[in-house]
Amino acid sequence: MKALILSGGKGTRLRPLTYTGAKQLVPVANKPILWYGIEEMVAAGITDIGIVINPETGEEVQAKTGNGDRFGANITYILQHTPAGLAHAVKVALPFLGESPFVMYLGDNLIQQGDLSYFLRKFSAQEQDALILLRTVENPSAFGVARVDETGRVLELIEKPVIPPSNLALVGVYFFSPVIHTAIANIQPSARGELEITDAIQYLINQQQQVTACQLEGWWLDTGKKDDLLEANRLILDTYLVSSPNSQQVYQNSQIAGRVQIGSHSQVINSTIRGPVIIGDNCYLENCFIGPYTSIGNHVELIESDIEHSVVLENAKISGIRQRIIDSVIGQRAKLTLAEHRPQAFRFLIGDDCHIELM
Ligand code: DAU
Repeated sequence: MKALILSGGKGTRLRPLTYTGAKQLVPVANKPILWYGIEEMVAAGITDIGIVINPETGEEVQAKTGNGDRFGANITYILQHTPAGLAHAVKVALPFLGESPFVMYLGDNLIQQGDLSYFLRKFSAQEQDALILLRTVENPSAFGVARVDETGRVLELIEKPVIPPSNLALVGVYFFSPVIHTAIANIQPSARGELEITDAIQYLINQQQQVTACQLEGWWLDTGKKDDLLEANRLILDTYLVSSPNSQQVYQNSQIAGRVQIGSHSQVINSTIRGPVIIGDNCYLENCFIGPYTSIGNHVELIESDIEHSVVLENAKISGIRQRIIDSVIGQRAKLTLAEHRPQAFRFLIGDDCHIELM
């Protein structure tokens, strides 16, 4: 069994963060989203992993993630020159996949830990050509959607339908036998110009091949947008964060309550932290309140500021902000400071596609 993780694509939805990097490397609880997928594979016993990358962000993904040693896996990088669709990515990965069955995992998706092993056992036990996972969603038009009969058999799959036939979305995890390559060879690009994996699975259904759908009960997040990212951050901190044992040594005159992890060489002075909160290495926090569900990356400086339910990326600097910052994602090296000189006014240097809400 092999794994194919897709980490190419366009990354337009998480702009502006994805102007400077891969969307799959955006951190959730201070760990790149992509790494959760890799860890899930390894936990399920799959260590032969191919990662599809694109020419723009591929080098960064490769440099950060490495050859797999840190995960106990063997990673092969596969370059997809154009983001021509999920099925196209499988086509490009054929030399890596060969005749092996495989699990395909979308690198910007997160599923609850442990679920993959369960579905892998199910797929391996019954000789199937495809096992897809479905989950009810409120906005099916944003996903691939399944029409199923009363016994749960998949009748039809439609990619991003205007009028969805159900609220059952395709989760970004698929199990395939090598027969999927024949299906991909027989489909045409969709109206949006992509070779859709949804169409390839539909081809299998039309050919009376064994396609099974299972409903995912655990949580699943497609981290494409800011609020999804914050929700993923909340869930991961809520579910998995444990306090770091020696946090006592790194703070002065501060109150720390709940589960809080503080990285090495970080200083917390005259501050209150209410977990779950994760703080990276080499951070400096003074006179701050850090509220629940906040992740602060390495080398962040936070002074005289209150923040909660937010993600602050590496090397950002926030100081003197009088109002509490909530539900926010602050990008790498961003600076949010109080004006020191008159006139007292807002002064912005805002990049393309940024969102700012003032009160
Ligand atoms: O998140 C679940 C949804 O994922 C499914 O419900 C849809 O059926 C499926 O088509 C897919 O839709 P998205 O619009 O979310 O796909 P997106 O373009 O965001 O790509 C998903 C991942 O695959 C992402 O990590 C980028 C990567 N990718 C994408 C394309 C189009 C590639 O590596 N190569 C590509 O050519």
